[in-house]
Amino acid sequence: MATIALRQTSAHASRASSVLLGLAGAAGLALYAANDNQSSYKYSGSSSNGNNNNNNNNNKNNGGNYIKALFGATTAANINNAMCPEGKKYADFQEVYNDIAKKVRDEDDADRGAGRYGLLVRLSWHASGTYNKKENSGGSYGGTMIYSPESTDGANAGLEVGRDFLAEIGVKYPWISRGDLWTLGGVVGVQEAGGPKIPWRPGRVNATDESKVPANGRLPDASQGASHIRDVFGKYGFTDEETVALIGAHCLGRCHTWRSGFDGPWGPSPNMFNNAYYVELLKEWRVRDWNGPKQYEDVETKEYMMLPSDMALKEDSVFVKSVKKYAANQDLFFADFTKAYVKLLENGCTYPRGTKYFEFKTLDEQEN
Ligand code: HEM
Repeated sequence: MATIALRQTSAHASRASSVLLGLAGAAGLALYAANDNQSSYKYSGSSSNGNNNNNNNNNKNNGGNYIKALFGATTAANINNAMCPEGKKYADFQEVYNDIAKKVRDEDDADRGAGRYGLLVRLSWHASGTYNKKENSGGSYGGTMIYSPESTDGANAGLEVGRDFLAEIGVKYPWISRGDLWTLGGVVGVQEAGGPKIPWRPGRVNATDESKVPANGRLPDASQGASHIRDVFGKYGFTDEETVALIGAHCLGRCHTWRSGFDGPWGPSPNMFNNAYYVELLKEWRVRDWNGPKQYEDVETKEYMMLPSDMALKEDSVFVKSVKKYAANQDLFFADFTKAYVKLLENGCTYPRGTKYFEFKTLDEQEN
């Protein structure tokens, strides 16, 4: 059993009441839980007439001549214009942030002390990790994970727990799209776990059918090595350094045998966002002797785990340079992670030039 170092913040002392659900919301949620697919649950943020959050976007909506003129007819089909839902401002999104954060706080003891931080960050990443830069397809824009085959992709096993976690908030705020809700959930996960501020922009629009769902196979396979990781993250458009910075999110959460087959947390503080992943990775590891897929255990305590793909970052002569840098300098990790994570969440979304980012206050900041 792993030792979990719990974060001590005023947030843990004063547990806020959970999000209140209206009757209509509860009914929608029940449907969602019973059958997690598009026909049963729609909190459509389809705001194709919405205004951008800081500039007039009327001439840039959905396809149209403007886009064709800019990008040419062949690519126009893949341009996903991000537009803030009409009439919504920073304060509206901070309210959604707060409801997610309060629910996270209420479930701080869940998942053997890991809480929900990791679950939400993984949901945001898998929602975005279907992107292909060359085709400019996939990504978080359409919130396509409710559709097959993405919903049944083995790589997404267990993420229905994250989608269900956020569903009641989607019901309460029907104007927010799935892509916005899931990526905002990731921002909450990072920030409430003590990580850096993640600048975020709204405007993703719900896909209403399966037509935009990419084929499975764009997410990485944990049993593979450096060349696979480089190939997968290269297709998203990330450098080696950005790739290593992103995977540092494995400081949060844990593996679950019922989801991925793997088991355990990466380190002693799965509810804290910090550079512990790299520090742990540089310690001594050996193959775990067990009935499951190949994974590693730390020699010192045997309480923590690494995936073969994690070990590849240490074994590859280029990746390991970034691992060492981030293990030695948490501020650098925070800065690089922030840039790469913002890029990940926005891959495939097209914002009008100059669209401002929102930076949300944590619950602790609002209380103190
Ligand atoms: C080579 C790349 C990666 C591989 C192979 C990989 C694989 C995995 C696997 C197998 C799990 C366990 C799932 C479970 O059993 O619940 C997991 C969890 C997780 N991954 Fe990754 N991952 C990768 C990159 C990333 C990136 C880029 C992020 C975020 C930016 C991320 C964030 C997380 C988080 C936070 C968890 C914990 C989830 C929870 O606690 O429920 N991973 N990952």
